[in-house]
Amino acid sequence: GAPYAPVIAIDGQAGSGKSTLARRLSEVLNIPTLNSGLYYRAVALWVARNHFDLEDLASNEYIADMLRSLVISVDGGRVILGGDDVTDQLRSKEVQRVLPKVSAKPEVRSYLNELQRLWVDRYGSSIVEGRDIGTVVFPDAYFKVFLTVSSDAQRARRPEEASVVERDLADRKREVAPTIPASDAVVWDTTSLSPEDVLETVQTALATKVETI
Ligand code: DC
Repeated sequence: GAPYAPVIAIDGQAGSGKSTLARRLSEVLNIPTLNSGLYYRAVALWVARNHFDLEDLASNEYIADMLRSLVISVDGGRVILGGDDVTDQLRSKEVQRVLPKVSAKPEVRSYLNELQRLWVDRYGSSIVEGRDIGTVVFPDAYFKVFLTVSSDAQRARRPEEASVVERDLADRKREVAPTIPASDAVVWDTTSLSPEDVLETVQTALATKVETI
C-alpha cells in the first residue's frame, strides 16, 4: 500500500483506557492523535437523524452515495458533520443505539478507513486510536498497543453508559474488523493499572523498540 507516516496504533476494548493513553502519549511525544471512534459516532448520528434503514446503506444507491459524500472532519477532538459542530451530540443514547449496526457495515467501514488514512496523510506521524487500527486501517503501523479490561472495570469506568459491556462484546464478536489484537501488537490488561501505569508501561516498551532499530 501507500507509504504512510509512522503511526502508533492504540486498539482495545471499550473503557480500557485507550483515549487517556492516546492523549498522554500525544503530549509526551508531541504528535497529534486521532480518535477513530468519532467517525463512527458521526455516521451513527447522521443515520439516527435521518431515520435511515441501515440495510439501505448498501442496497439503496441514493443513500450509499450520500454516505460516500458525507463530509466529516475531525480536528483537535471536535467533529464537524456537514458544516455543523456535532461534538456534543456524539455520546447521546440514540447514537449509542445505532452504533453497533453502523460499525458492522462494510460500506461504512471502508469509507471511514479512507477518511482515517487521509487524516494521517494530512497530519503526518500520529497516534490513532480505535478497534481495528493495527489490523485493518494501518497494518504497517510502527507500534501497536492493544488494551483489555474486565467487564466490572468497564462498568465502573463508564457509569454513564449502561450497556458498555454489551457494546464492547458486539465489537469483539462482529464479523467485519472485530476488536482483536494484531499478531504484532503488545497486549496489556489495564484492569488494575492506573493511567500513569499504562503510560509508563507503553513508554518503556516504545523506548525498547526504538533502541533495537
Ligand atoms: O472509541 P469509541 O468507543 O468512541 O467508538 C465508538 C464505536 O465505534 C465502537 O463501539 C465501535 C466503533 N468503532 C469501530 O468499529 N472501529 C474503530 N476503529 C473505532 C470505533
